[in-house]
Amino acid sequence: MKKTMLFEPYTIKGVTFKNRIAMAPMCQYSADTEGSLQDWHRVHYASRAVGQVGMIITEATAVESRGRISNKDLGIWHDSCVKPFSELIKQVQAHQCRMGIQIAHAGRKSTILDEPIVAPGRMQFNDQYQVPQELSFPEIQVVVSAFGQAVRRAVAAGVDFIEIHGAHGYLVNQFLSPLTNKRTDDYGQDRSLFLKEVLEEVTAHIPRQMPLFLRVSAEDYLPGGNHPQELCRLLEPVKHLIDLVHVSSGGVMDNAPIKMFPGYQVSFAKIIRQQLKLPVMSVGMLDSPELAEETLRNGSADLIALGRELLRNPYWPLHAAKRLEEEISWPEAYQRAKN
Ligand SMILES: Cc1cc2nc3c(=O)[nH]c(=O)nc-3n(C[C@H](O)[C@H](O)[C@H](O)COP(=O)(O)O)c2cc1C
Repeated sequence: MKKTMLFEPYTIKGVTFKNRIAMAPMCQYSADTEGSLQDWHRVHYASRAVGQVGMIITEATAVESRGRISNKDLGIWHDSCVKPFSELIKQVQAHQCRMGIQIAHAGRKSTILDEPIVAPGRMQFNDQYQVPQELSFPEIQVVVSAFGQAVRRAVAAGVDFIEIHGAHGYLVNQFLSPLTNKRTDDYGQDRSLFLKEVLEEVTAHIPRQMPLFLRVSAEDYLPGGNHPQELCRLLEPVKHLIDLVHVSSGGVMDNAPIKMFPGYQVSFAKIIRQQLKLPVMSVGMLDSPELAEETLRNGSADLIALGRELLRNPYWPLHAAKRLEEEISWPEAYQRAKN
């Protein structure tokens, strides 16, 4: 039994995480133009596993080449991705760290220039971006199927869990938000329909005991946009397909004013946890170990994720344990630095 909740193990379905600390997905803009992993990724992810995070969620990994945010994103749209991912996952798991891939499609927020980009409608993100093509019904089925194939490859590579990127104004979020989904067909009348089809498709490729996470933007920060209550209403019909909601915010519109402060997204996570009665992960400036611990202790979240702080300090969990006077095991090779 641990003194802190932060270092208490947590089980979802058949997967136990050794603590409640996740590395948030962060684009590294370091892949080649085929979306393939490089040495940078191997060092970057393995370092945080050595630093003792309980789980790593990879950066946004594209299901189609036109679905990349940039032409240096990771991709998983071809079978030759499986082997390099498999090697990376084994490298991370060797440190008792669980690894999941964030499965993503950028939609209208793709900055790819050599292919047309797609979205629920023809609205540009801003004038620096391509005008997207509106996805027709059969084209939507192609994209849904690409999510399924991407997850099939991730599972073949040996992931412990899957995260679908439904946040930050990327394709899934473009269907969910009323600010970007102006369609008049079924996908406009039911803004969660695209997400539901994606979740059903990917579920068919996931072993029963493997957790499926969904990252969402709970707040659009603009009138007429999604807010946490509205998002809960959208997630209600699909919640049986999800094992955890990873609660972020923003990114749908370029002009949304976001005020960031320590724990700025915790209240959104709490609402979603209470309303949907699903486990949630909170993220967003939770760098202080005391704040991270309190977020778990007061029932706002079940897990916490750290982004930028882990870029500054890959060994954050080792420091946090010391600060909270928690006993955790250090990597054998680093034992002499422990005290
Ligand atoms: C360099 C960088 C890249 C990011 N890339 C992604 C991404 O690929 N997918 C995603 O969902 N969020 C991405 N994010 C957002 C982070 O996952 C996280 O939600 C955000 O940084 C807030 O957490 P923090 O205050 O702990 O950094 C990125 C953030 C940074 C700083």
